[in-house]
Amino acid sequence: MKKSIITGMGHFVPQRVVTNDDLAKVMDTNDEWIRERTGIEERRHLGKNSETNTSDLVVKAAEMALKNAGISASDIDFIIFATLSPDYFFPGCGVLIQKKLGCDTIGALDVRNQCSGFIYALSTADAFIRSGIYRNILVIGAENHSFGLDLTTRSRSVSVIFGDGAGAVVVSASDEQGRGIITTNLHSEGEYAENLAVLFPGTQYGWADVLLDEDNPITADEIYPHMDGNFVFKHAVTRFPESVKEAFEKSGERIENLKLFIPHQANLRISQFVQRQLGLRDEQVFNNIQKYGNTTAASIPIALSEAVQQGRVQKGDLICMTAFGSGFTWGSVLMRW
Ligand code: UT7
Repeated sequence: MKKSIITGMGHFVPQRVVTNDDLAKVMDTNDEWIRERTGIEERRHLGKNSETNTSDLVVKAAEMALKNAGISASDIDFIIFATLSPDYFFPGCGVLIQKKLGCDTIGALDVRNQCSGFIYALSTADAFIRSGIYRNILVIGAENHSFGLDLTTRSRSVSVIFGDGAGAVVVSASDEQGRGIITTNLHSEGEYAENLAVLFPGTQYGWADVLLDEDNPITADEIYPHMDGNFVFKHAVTRFPESVKEAFEKSGERIENLKLFIPHQANLRISQFVQRQLGLRDEQVFNNIQKYGNTTAASIPIALSEAVQQGRVQKGDLICMTAFGSGFTWGSVLMRW
């Protein structure tokens, strides 16, 4: 049976750097609080009036991934696109990438699993590759958060965290021994759907009717992201290690042999907590949240692309990617590079 290997990766972030001090100019926050509670020093924002869309960010990341893999857009058989900030409510972003890259009329699937979106997308690609249906799949995670963030004190615990960016990988079928995705696990707990959510637009509100109803305007709570920070944090530090341990148990691999753990960049404190629980050394964990903030579906592919650029992943190395977030959803991909 074919195995799935990652043959190319790319990432792209907007040029505009937004520091903690920049945020302190528009809301009641400060550099010390943000660094201490999240580890974030700066993030990238396209901004509310940007003409660049989520799909535009992806084009640059995808072109880098294709070049890296040594293939062209016509070699891609399928696209999987994970985002919570699509260009349109519908259709999804996958079709926009099919057009913008000039791919043939291949299938394009959108994944709506927020912070775990890339893990869900990569696991889906792996299933298509192993079943022999596709040979080269473009897997994307991208976000344009800044268009929808409430940059006022009211939403400060949410808005200081998130940043914009895109990452893409080419997943290809391979017969090479000792390489490829070994195991994946995916989980969800919809009971907590509203603990980290954007409630509008959604059918429960009647959507268009509400937008057009001048006497009953929608509220900021409905439009902007809402997060029970402490609650999400507590679940994250339980689910992350659980999912990693499940991957190792199922694979028969030993965690001592893990070369690099690439967690979803949710909060540096979460990554450090998980690192301690798993008994990992500093060099076994990749963190870049300091520079980009939490880029949701984009965070793991951006981190992976940077880790490879920095030479921290070599052929045959054991790597584990794990995410947790809105849904709640969580999961891992364990692979030999
Ligand atoms: O991406 C995947 C899913 N997301 C996550 O995994 C995020 C999980 N949660 C977190 O990362 C943290 O809960 C946050 C970073 C969001 C918040 O940190 P916290 O340590 O849980 O802070 P808190 O919400 O308990 O707030 C502590 C205090 C409050 O003030 P009082 O009530 O103690 O006087 C907040 O009003 O900090 C205040 N605060 C702020 N102060 C300055 C909240 N946000 C800010 C801010 N600047 N940006």
